[in-house]
Amino acid sequence: MAMSIQCALISQIKMLQLLFCLSYFVILSSAVSRENFKTCEQSGFCKRNRAMQPGQSPYIALIDSLQVQANSLNIQLLNKNNNVRLKLEAYGLQDNMFRVKINELSPIKERYEIPVGDSLIEEPRLHNINLSQKDKDKIVFTMDSNKVVISVEPFRMDIYSNDDPVISINAQGLMKFEHYRKKESWLINTGSSIFSWFTNHFREAPPAENEEEKPEGEEKKEEENAVETKTEEEPDMWEETFKTFTDSKPHGPSSVGIDVSFPGFEDVYGIPEHADTMALKTTKTTDPYRLFNLDVFEYELYNPMALYGAVPLMYAHNEMRTVGIFWHNAAETWIDISSNTADKSVFSHIADFVKGNNEIPQTDTHWFSESGVIDIFILLGPTPSNVFKQYARLTGTTPLPPLYSIAYHQCRWNYNDQDDVKSVDANFDKYDIPYDVIWLDIEHTDGKKYFTWAHEKFPHPEEMIKNLSVKGRKLVTIVDPHLKREDGYSVYTDARDKGYLVKNKDGNDYDGWCWPGSSSWPDFTSAEVREWWTSKFSLSEYKGSTPDLIVWNDMNEPSVFNGPEITFHKDVKHMNGYENRDLHNIYGLYVHQATMDGLLRRSGGKERSFVLTRAFFAGSQRHSAVWTGDNIGEWSHLKVSIPMILSLNLAGITFSGADVGGFFKNPEHELITRWYQTGVFYPFLRAHAHLDTKRREPYLLPEEHMNIIREALRLRYSLLPYWYTLFYQAEQDGLPIFRPLWVDYPKSKEVFRMDDQFLLGSSILAKPITDQGTTNTNVHFPGRHDIWYDIDTYEVYDGGVTKNVAAPLDKIPVYQKGGSIIPRKLRPRRSSSLMYQDPFTLIVCLDQQGNAKGEIYLDDYHTFQYRNGEYLHREFTFNNNNLSSKNIDPKGQFNTREWIEKIIIVGYPKNPLNISIKNFSGENSKRLAHKYNSEEKSLTIRKPGVNIADVWTITIE
Ligand code: NOJ
Repeated sequence: MAMSIQCALISQIKMLQLLFCLSYFVILSSAVSRENFKTCEQSGFCKRNRAMQPGQSPYIALIDSLQVQANSLNIQLLNKNNNVRLKLEAYGLQDNMFRVKINELSPIKERYEIPVGDSLIEEPRLHNINLSQKDKDKIVFTMDSNKVVISVEPFRMDIYSNDDPVISINAQGLMKFEHYRKKESWLINTGSSIFSWFTNHFREAPPAENEEEKPEGEEKKEEENAVETKTEEEPDMWEETFKTFTDSKPHGPSSVGIDVSFPGFEDVYGIPEHADTMALKTTKTTDPYRLFNLDVFEYELYNPMALYGAVPLMYAHNEMRTVGIFWHNAAETWIDISSNTADKSVFSHIADFVKGNNEIPQTDTHWFSESGVIDIFILLGPTPSNVFKQYARLTGTTPLPPLYSIAYHQCRWNYNDQDDVKSVDANFDKYDIPYDVIWLDIEHTDGKKYFTWAHEKFPHPEEMIKNLSVKGRKLVTIVDPHLKREDGYSVYTDARDKGYLVKNKDGNDYDGWCWPGSSSWPDFTSAEVREWWTSKFSLSEYKGSTPDLIVWNDMNEPSVFNGPEITFHKDVKHMNGYENRDLHNIYGLYVHQATMDGLLRRSGGKERSFVLTRAFFAGSQRHSAVWTGDNIGEWSHLKVSIPMILSLNLAGITFSGADVGGFFKNPEHELITRWYQTGVFYPFLRAHAHLDTKRREPYLLPEEHMNIIREALRLRYSLLPYWYTLFYQAEQDGLPIFRPLWVDYPKSKEVFRMDDQFLLGSSILAKPITDQGTTNTNVHFPGRHDIWYDIDTYEVYDGGVTKNVAAPLDKIPVYQKGGSIIPRKLRPRRSSSLMYQDPFTLIVCLDQQGNAKGEIYLDDYHTFQYRNGEYLHREFTFNNNNLSSKNIDPKGQFNTREWIEKIIIVGYPKNPLNISIKNFSGENSKRLAHKYNSEEKSLTIRKPGVNIADVWTITIE
């Protein structure tokens, strides 16, 4: 009887799952299904942490346990409520950083820590600290001009920079550290809650707690802890049910949380990925911002719901300084934000005004993760570029991409067969529209078995790729991490037989639904499995691939159609002994890391390559470009793409973009056109569209729109030398490429929240049109001492003011900064590799004093030889009517035929009498032809005819 009820219910559950899968496909054309995703109220640990009340911290620092070393100190913390002890370690780090780690003193099970090398590039380098005070109430230590005060009871840490308080930890007393514990016997017997009654009856009996193998000595610790602790139990600590899914939580509650305050700061940024404004909002009336990699297609805008990737990094910025914190934890994380200024009612603002209240602004944040340890890196800036460099020291930067990958990518789900690919390629040429890479989505495979081809549609993949590569183009194929569970599919059987698949809570291969139907997932957390995956990309293993095939990793959160919140069950087991709960947010990084390694290995590490990923974590920037997933072809999604890419760039993910045109729906021509005009400024530029949408390759649009799009793409291509230089600089210093104005104008409060316009490096300002029917817009020109030139008309705009400018459909408001020199290549070509040897035009925009400066970086555009010194990094300077070029990095030497064809000096006051060039490679001074446009105030110097590597000076008289 019991058995038959159970069977009936199990088949009911299967039915529900099936219905869910179907709905996944059906809802592809409506809004996000919010109910698939947890709210904080539906998450036990979120609720428990959010319920913490300020001012009641039970934690005290045990002063007698203090130990001080040259670079670090450690001290025990005691939770007075349950007598559990924790150990706190504080480290001084090089480059003006601190690290604070809090873990259990004697855990009954080791808590997960992200291995060094996976998110962090290396063990962070330590820096000396000095203990300057220790008494019964507080401990003070210093590092250079920074000071950390540890208050004993209640425990808190205050960090000062030059005596200014900048960051406080546990100042509100919201710290919570759920130690691993044994399940109370009454819970084992009765089940943890009434809510779990249903699922308890229809699943296997839970394994006796902590029955897994334990390392030696752990049994003893367990006993010690058991004696010491008394715990408060709450219903969902040992089991939690969301919709039809029950999380077995074999290790019980394990969350960690603490508050971090930023005294003096009103603005905080970062923690992508959210479809929200760049300046983060307070969460008083919403859920906290959530970081949990999920497949949230057709996401809702301006809310803190989780999306595909997570970088737990936040910056706080004010006119005086920038600081940051990096929460080094890969478990599901939520962040609450409040602010004493933003959270005030209108009435209290009015009251302040009347009373003249000078309250110092402060932003308070509260971070909590489901498991792991508290591991906070404190980045003390003090400038914006300092904090970016500090974060780059921890997690690395994006290696210089090959030139084709920063050009234009043409994608669609799907290009149907070889003829389709051929015809799209030919049409781009016919209509003279540049593009570099064409993409194949899942239908190119044999039954969604990655690394295979649907032979009836793609009988000769190598030949197809060759036809593209003769024009310098590449082909992308999609390779998702789910493997179809089919006996004849060798990638799957190989992984299965080697024991490489992630396991469900019972230890069997995890079986979930994705595109191919029943699927399993390799355990990318294991280096051995990653190595196996890497080998699959060799030309001999991946049949039909060539060195010109590159890869797209999608669905790597991972997406599991019938899983809770469309992802893995949290009790999925990994080979390292941990559950997915502990490391969920870094799984996707491991996928694209192994993929990139595979592509690099094909050329023995000689050629650079390209991978696009949807899921990401801190450190992903070292391996892959990122896109913002399944957006919608609507104006609002075009608009939000700017703050989303700004936030990604702030968090180190410089090589990022959004689907141009929008993935879902059929955008009207005006919208597609405006989207291209915006997209040509995304660091990663790809058009993409859903299977059900109408074809919308640019050549299919009415001529007016096609012409405008062609111009926008040509603008991108002409600026590739500038983009390439920016990517090189970003590899060196980790600065965002697509950056908010505050990065370059850190003292201009009016730009702190501006996220509808942006800078590309320091020299280009853009405010693309993102509103329907708009033909003019207000542009803020930053910098009271700066001037800006319209890149088309050379019209001048004073900095420090906002001006309304005309922006008819064929106009993108884009400006070059006075005082900058930008190298461009103006000959239109079909792809970027056909531009390799093309000559440069230098656009010199003079500042108010008549000076300018700029840089160019170049190399062979595709190999790693630049790391062996085969590159050129040069600087151009214009002052006192002399324009000269010099090498700024003597380590770089590179022979190239690229030369300077033209120089345009913008903002030049009068037609000169004579212009001559002196080439220091021996030639005498030579007179140059010129033309002056008095209306534009532009001076064009023709054919200086010098190689880009030459040292020369042009004199204007
Ligand atoms: C979801 C991705 O976000 C989308 O870009 C892709 O086209 C589909 N998966 C099919 O592979």
